[in-house]
Amino acid sequence: MYKKLFDKIKKKKFTISVVGLGYIGLPLALSFAQKNIKVIGVDKDRNKIEKIKNCSSYINTVDKSLIKSCLKKKFSVSTNFRELRFSDVIIICVPTPIKKNKKPDMKYVREAVKKISDIIEKGHLIILECTTYPGTTEDYFLPIIKNKKLNIGENVFLGYSPEREDPGNKKFSILKGNINKVISGHSKNCLKLVDSVYKLIITKTHKVSNIKTAEFTKLLENIYRSVNIGLVNELYNLCSKLDINIYETINAAKSKPFGYHAFYPGPGVGGHCIPVDPYYLSWIAKKKGINLKFIQLAGNINRQRPTQVSSFIVKQNVKNILILGLSYKDNSDDLRDAPSIKIFKNLLEKGKNIYVSDPNVDRKIIMKNFKGAKNVTTHSLNKKFLSNIDLVILLNKHKTINYKSIQSKSKLILDCKNIYKKKYKNVLTA
Ligand SMILES: NC(=O)c1ccc[n+]([C@@H]2O[C@H](COP(=O)([O-])OP(=O)(O)OC[C@H]3O[C@@H](n4cnc5c(N)ncnc54)[C@H](O)[C@@H]3O)[C@@H](O)[C@H]2O)c1
Repeated sequence: MYKKLFDKIKKKKFTISVVGLGYIGLPLALSFAQKNIKVIGVDKDRNKIEKIKNCSSYINTVDKSLIKSCLKKKFSVSTNFRELRFSDVIIICVPTPIKKNKKPDMKYVREAVKKISDIIEKGHLIILECTTYPGTTEDYFLPIIKNKKLNIGENVFLGYSPEREDPGNKKFSILKGNINKVISGHSKNCLKLVDSVYKLIITKTHKVSNIKTAEFTKLLENIYRSVNIGLVNELYNLCSKLDINIYETINAAKSKPFGYHAFYPGPGVGGHCIPVDPYYLSWIAKKKGINLKFIQLAGNINRQRPTQVSSFIVKQNVKNILILGLSYKDNSDDLRDAPSIKIFKNLLEKGKNIYVSDPNVDRKIIMKNFKGAKNVTTHSLNKKFLSNIDLVILLNKHKTINYKSIQSKSKLILDCKNIYKKKYKNVLTA
């Protein structure tokens, strides 16, 4: 069974299904499809499936022309999990958020696993890509495989490979195939199959000895970021008091050719990874009797940033405020857990008139997330519009915004991302 599947994959004569066509799953599915591999994309969201079928994209970093060309090849999409019966390889890319009590919310994984368990049979290779606690893949799939009396590594195969996509990153992406992929398998045969699948779309894979290690690697990468962002956010507050420009300091530290990696302060972290992943590790650590104090502290510092920015704005004593750039990171359209939403709510509570604008984000999505905004725009802003604004807050740096023009037309700007490298009389930092 192993040899048969291995040969099918090598010859690209196999079918792959991707479950969950979001920021991660859609580009992944298209990566295989553009290599002329038969791909079935499955998502429970009817709107997304309809959009793909109509060759339109709901992710600003995924070009609709690519969707169109893939649909002409061997790419199809559906909301029907029965379609998975026709696949040899199933990759799962569903969300892994946290609950209100900060514990892992495994409901999407559970749902997807349940549906897959109905169709799983001899010859299948299942790969989980979701960011999650070490142990998830085997916790969820081994009981099903055992129940079905299948022999893992002999007639059914299991692996985990963490996603490393960075939506908005023009240099590295899954579609370009230039992000090394960490891969793992339950057995040697599983690992070889996982390797052969990803080698079709990625130049380099990095094998680890077991699934838990691969799951942990993803958390290590993101917690490393969270901790370093926390550190630099804390130092940013100190530098303001000492009248030191932290960006100049970071540039100076960067001149050392080893032992230093630059991280930058900002208005807070957002998205599906940095604010969420530390809780997955803390949860499993607590179960093992370990309290991850250092990691929690960094998370707290990062979470305080939107409140600090809001307090700074309130002190400016201005009424009409524009938040320009709403997504949680540069060049993205992703509003999940974005600092802009927290700052918006804080300022609204203080009775401010808040205008919001982001050329990267769909207008309807902005309206849904910024209820109570005085005005919502997604196009470039003219002098007349800006003349009514007392303060413009810049929370990210988009290629789609002409910052020079904003600076010349605005009364006052709060630059939270060091967009204006030199000093301007009308530009503040917080
Ligand atoms: N977004 C990122 O930058 C990023 C980076 C690295 C890793 N990840 C991880 O990748 C995983 C997916 O994240 P994402 O950003 O693509 O999420 P997303 O919310 O953009 O997409 C997930 C998709 O899964 C669908 N879905 C949910 N439950 C389903 C089910 N039971 N069956 C079928 N479809 C289902 C949703 O409709 C949605 O379209 C998460 O574990 C995340 O932590 C995300």
